[in-house]
Amino acid sequence: MKKTAKRTLALLLTIIMLFSCMSANAATTEKTGYEPLRISCTMYGDAKTQRGFTWYTENGCDATIQIVDRATYAASGFDNAITITGETFNWDGYFGHKVVASDLKAGTKYKYRVGTTNKDQWSKVGTFVTDDGDDSFSFIAIADVQASSLENFQEAAVVMDKAMQYTPDAEFVVNLGDFVNDCTSEEWNWYGEAFEKANTSLTLVPVVGNHEGNITNKLNVEWFTNTFNILPGDGALNGVNGAYYSYDYGDVHFTVMNSNDMYPMTEAQRNWIYNDITASDAHWKVLLLHRAAYSAGKNINKPDTLAMRDTIIEIVDETGVDLVLSGHDHMYFRTLQVAGDQVCEDTVYVTEKFNGVDTTFAVDPEGAVYALPSTAGTKRYGVNENTYAPIMDAADACFTTRSEKDENGVETNPYAGGCFANVEIDGDRLIYKAYVVNDDTKKVTQVDEYAIKKTVKDDIESTNRPTDLIGTIDGSVANFFTEIFGLIITYITKIIPQLIAGLF
Ligand SMILES: [Fe+2]
Repeated sequence: MKKTAKRTLALLLTIIMLFSCMSANAATTEKTGYEPLRISCTMYGDAKTQRGFTWYTENGCDATIQIVDRATYAASGFDNAITITGETFNWDGYFGHKVVASDLKAGTKYKYRVGTTNKDQWSKVGTFVTDDGDDSFSFIAIADVQASSLENFQEAAVVMDKAMQYTPDAEFVVNLGDFVNDCTSEEWNWYGEAFEKANTSLTLVPVVGNHEGNITNKLNVEWFTNTFNILPGDGALNGVNGAYYSYDYGDVHFTVMNSNDMYPMTEAQRNWIYNDITASDAHWKVLLLHRAAYSAGKNINKPDTLAMRDTIIEIVDETGVDLVLSGHDHMYFRTLQVAGDQVCEDTVYVTEKFNGVDTTFAVDPEGAVYALPSTAGTKRYGVNENTYAPIMDAADACFTTRSEKDENGVETNPYAGGCFANVEIDGDRLIYKAYVVNDDTKKVTQVDEYAIKKTVKDDIESTNRPTDLIGTIDGSVANFFTEIFGLIITYITKIIPQLIAGLF
């Protein structure tokens, strides 16, 4: 018995020592500076066969990615992975790494990791799926994460987590801009840390915001294009203060605008958008931009937004865009069908079952619907009471998502919380829904829904306009005077009279 007791004691001591050693090793694992930070997998060119990747390290090293079909990953990990090396560059005291993966298989789920072959240091395993080309898929849209502390980014990441739970089949996430507040490396590291799960679980579609580079925001040029690996469209301003680009997904054409390129919008971008959208024969056309043309937030009466409204509305109307998603104003706004800055009064709606649920569809409507899914972040604005008439006339949903608690600390705003939207495309149907996540309880509430049934494809003639700097200078000058003139007219005829009327 004594012998057995001694043996048991010895065994226990050995186990304790082993665990102690393991803990000590874990505790002393030192940072190497080669740990991948700010990892993203972005839409790049052909959604069926290509993706762009970016990440950063503190120390310089090679840029390598390993990608493997998820079906074979379980059996052999990265043993049979496609290995691609990319470029490394210096940026703000860090080393940026970019890789483009091409020749991927359509409709395939992939696993990947980024890192350095030379130092044998790798990220956690990420996933993405390529477009299978059919006409049915879902995606998530969020806006204005724009935090300036890790804690606030983490709050926004909880909203993104909920978005993924409520959109389990989402194939990508659109971030409508203002990822960060002051565009420092520290903020991007916080964003990357908090959003690592989201950005390595879904393909990201980044839209440049004014906080990622704008003449009104500290000339933060090139941050957007150095942080996200996208394939910019032809034009003069690519890489300077944002970028514009496009992609097809299923039977939808997505055009991503650079709304930092305003006052005026260069003729290069304007022409590129016309060429890009009209060249597509996709059933649906979706425009993504940071600054909202329809909003009741604090920015809507500012000169920059007013100057661009007419430009955006004209483009949307003339190219047959169906849905416009924007950010910037940190409040919730969605229009009815609008064209020429007027509500399309003749729109016919029908309620029918979709996936077993009664859903109201606008049937083959004129015009487009504009949605601003507030913000997934914690900085939220109220409704601007001075928003002028054409905008408020178009509103079908307009509210703040800001917390408004009474003296007992009870929330009185049913719409309070971080906001996300999802869009489901199913052939000739498009269903947009928006949700808020309560800050305290994390309970998710659906706050809006709008659906379109479009059986007839638009017949719009394609354009072939110049997009080079020299060939578009005269157009840019004309745009400048048109936008400034339009801005002055709007102030004189709409905003100032409304402000005066509000005094009495
Ligand atoms: Fe913004």
